[in-house]
Amino acid sequence: MKKTKKLRSFWYSLSSRQRFLIRRLYYLPIDIFDKITGKTHPYVPARGFIYTGSPASAKNYIQQGLKQLDLLKETINLQPNDAILDIGSGIGRTAIALTGYLNQNGTYDGFDVVKKGVDWCNNGIGTDFPNFNFKYVPIFNDLYNTSSLKATGFQFPYPKNSFSKIISFSLFTHMQADEIQHYFSEIEKVLKPEGLCFSTFFLYDSENESFISEKATMAFPYKKDNYRLMHNNVKSSNIAFHKNEIKLMLKKANLECVKMIDGFWKDTIRDASKKEYQDIVIFKKLSI
Ligand SMILES: C[S@@+](CC[C@H](N)C(=O)[O-])C[C@H]1O[C@@H](n2cnc3c(N)ncnc32)[C@H](O)[C@@H]1O
Repeated sequence: MKKTKKLRSFWYSLSSRQRFLIRRLYYLPIDIFDKITGKTHPYVPARGFIYTGSPASAKNYIQQGLKQLDLLKETINLQPNDAILDIGSGIGRTAIALTGYLNQNGTYDGFDVVKKGVDWCNNGIGTDFPNFNFKYVPIFNDLYNTSSLKATGFQFPYPKNSFSKIISFSLFTHMQADEIQHYFSEIEKVLKPEGLCFSTFFLYDSENESFISEKATMAFPYKKDNYRLMHNNVKSSNIAFHKNEIKLMLKKANLECVKMIDGFWKDTIRDASKKEYQDIVIFKKLSI
C-alpha cells in the first residue's frame, strides 16, 4: 500500500473527535503565527478549526469561496436576489463570498451537522448580515460527528417551494446512497418550480471505473451495488457514483439532470480547462 493510502486509512480509523483534536494541535503553531502577524479574517476560522477540505490561510480560504461563487454564477446563473439554500454549509466558505454578492432582496440559508461550524457562522456572518441564517441539525455522519438522528428521516425545516437556487459543495461525496436519495426528495420539496440546483459528486462511468478504483490518490476500491466507497469502515469518508445511477436517483425524486460537468479529480493528464476538482451536477424539478 502506498504511503498516502496508509495515512488516509489511519486518519479514517480515528474518531471524528480525535481528528478534530489532531488537526487543532497540528496547526496550532501556524495559527499562533497568523494571529501575531495579523493574517486573520473575522469570518475565517484558524486553520486548526477548518475541518472541511484542506486547511488554508485566510487569504486562500476567501479565494476558494470566490472561486465557488464564480462557478455558481457560470453554471446556475446565480443572481444577487436569489433565495439560496446551502446544504452542508460547513464553516461558511461559500457564505463568505456570498456576503459580497447577495443584495438585500437575496437570502442565504445554510444547514450543517457540525455544531461548531454552524455556531462559528452564526457568530460572525449571521450577526453582521440579517439575511444570512445558519441552522444546526443533529444528524449522524460517521466522518464528522456522533449525533443520533438519521439523515434518511430528516425533513428540511423550510416551507415548500422556498428556494430559487440550492447548492451543495462536497456534501454528496460524504453521504450514503439512501441518505442522498432522501435528500433529493427533500430538495424537490423546497425548490421553487423554476429553481436550479448545483451539487458536486465523484462520478464515474464504464470507461473510467477501473481507473478510479485503483488510482494512486482518491481511489474508490470498494465496489457496492451502484456505487464505490473509498473506505469500507467510514462509509461517509468518500463515495463515488456511476453517472447513470445519479440520473436514476434524481428521477426517483422527480428531479432531472440538466448537465454533468467532469471535474479534474479523475484526469489522467490534468485538463487545465476544468475549473473544479469534483464533478458537478446541475439539476431541476422534472418538467411535466
Ligand atoms: C467537505 S464539507 C464541505 C463544506 C462546505 N460546503 C464547503 O464547501 O466548504 C461537507 C460538509 O457537509 C456536512 N454534512 C455531512 N453530512 C451532512 C448531512 N447529512 N446534512 C447536512 N450537512 C452534512 C459536513 O458537516 C461538512 O460541513
